Amino acid sequence: MRTEVGIVGAGPAGLLLAQLLDLAGISSVIIEARDRAYLEARIRAGVLEWGTVEMLREAGVNARMEREGLVHRGIDLAFRGRKHRIDFESLVGKTTMVYGQHEVVKDLIAARLERGGQIVFEAEDVGIENYEESSTTRPVIRYRKDGVEHRLECDFIAGCDGFHGICRPSLPESALKVYERTYPFGWLGILAEAEPTNDELIYANHERGFALYSMRSPTVTRLYLQCHPEEDLKEWPDERVWSELHRRLEDSDGWKLKEGPILQKSVTAMRSFVAGPMRHGRLFLAGDAAHIVPPTGAKGMNLAVADVRYLCRALERWYRHNDMAGLDGYSDKCLARVWKAQRFSWWMTQLMHRFEEATPFEHEVQQAELDFITSSRRGAAALAEQYVGLPFDD
Ligand code: FAD
Ligand code: DHB
Repeated sequence: MRTEVGIVGAGPAGLLLAQLLDLAGISSVIIEARDRAYLEARIRAGVLEWGTVEMLREAGVNARMEREGLVHRGIDLAFRGRKHRIDFESLVGKTTMVYGQHEVVKDLIAARLERGGQIVFEAEDVGIENYEESSTTRPVIRYRKDGVEHRLECDFIAGCDGFHGICRPSLPESALKVYERTYPFGWLGILAEAEPTNDELIYANHERGFALYSMRSPTVTRLYLQCHPEEDLKEWPDERVWSELHRRLEDSDGWKLKEGPILQKSVTAMRSFVAGPMRHGRLFLAGDAAHIVPPTGAKGMNLAVADVRYLCRALERWYRHNDMAGLDGYSDKCLARVWKAQRFSWWMTQLMHRFEEATPFEHEVQQAELDFITSSRRGAAALAEQYVGLPFDD
């Protein structure tokens, strides 16, 4: 088999890249380890930056998002028992869209298959070869499907296989510089069949730990609680989850959270991680394969989309004009954005969570920072500008 761009992974990064390349007349094949149903049911991110929304429009996969997505014009920050609104629209003139990552994935898979594009689901033993600068033969993605070995020959490989994929670990350790930070807590997340009772997200800093109020639709609420990084879900029966959510999220204004059947419950560890450079010869890493952010800033999927935007434009420049400049600049361009999102995600995380080891002094400084942000227009604007997503320079 032969194609121009071989893509490993059908998450948001791989699927959007394939769609954008297809629209630009560049062929690609996606090799994915899981089946379609699994990808379409995997509950993850929920907040799209305005630039991500624009990209999905450019890719022509926006119809359902425009109908079902919820435009959000701000968020609430809650601390010391009170909510404070950060009004994105009046501060920076932009909004976000709440639309589940699995819905984006569904729309992208449907669009890909409708256009006759290829996704190889349930590929086993995926490996990459000949992508090094020194290689004299074409890059290859090899995999096994239904017991048969296959080799996909391509001009370039896009490593869009997430944090636990094979592309990044295929590189020699000396080829990558890794920056990492782990946090002493995780998030316990639930999806509940309950009508949202607040129109916007609530990020709550509480003495019992952080809590986040989000949603997926007019009938489904998405909620998170700061917990131990290796929290045992068996110790969290539904009643305990609700009781903790009520305590951390409800405040002095009388607002009440609505309960409903819990559809899904999981624990996510929190880490900041960057591996660079994001290019090695003819292999380009994109999305979680190269970087992870703690979820407090809602940046992970948005960064994956930003990488793919740069990669697609760089590949177009190569195929249309025989010009390698975009591909040569890919890693630096992505990492400049990645580090700003890393900084924002780290900052939001330390602003909103309870740190066991924090001294009373550090705790008061944290509360003062929240007070400053919610009472200063410029403080609020800095948060809003980054939350809705920094602009692209091209
Ligand atoms: P992935 O979505 O991980 O996709 C990688 C794909 O590669 C997967 O389909 C995987 O099956 C496949 N794969 C892996 N290994 C192989 C292999 N060997 N061969 C072939 N295929 C392989 N981000 C936000 O922007 N906003 C949020 O609000 C947000 N909230 C989050 C909440 C939670 C609970 C979690 C867990 C994450 C959240 N994120 C959020 C992060 C976001 O989900 C990720 O950043 C996003 O999924 C990255 O997309 P990706 O395509 O790079 O990687
Ligand atoms: C959601 C997840 C996040 O990490 C976040 O910061 C905001 C919302 C969500 O899943 O809805």
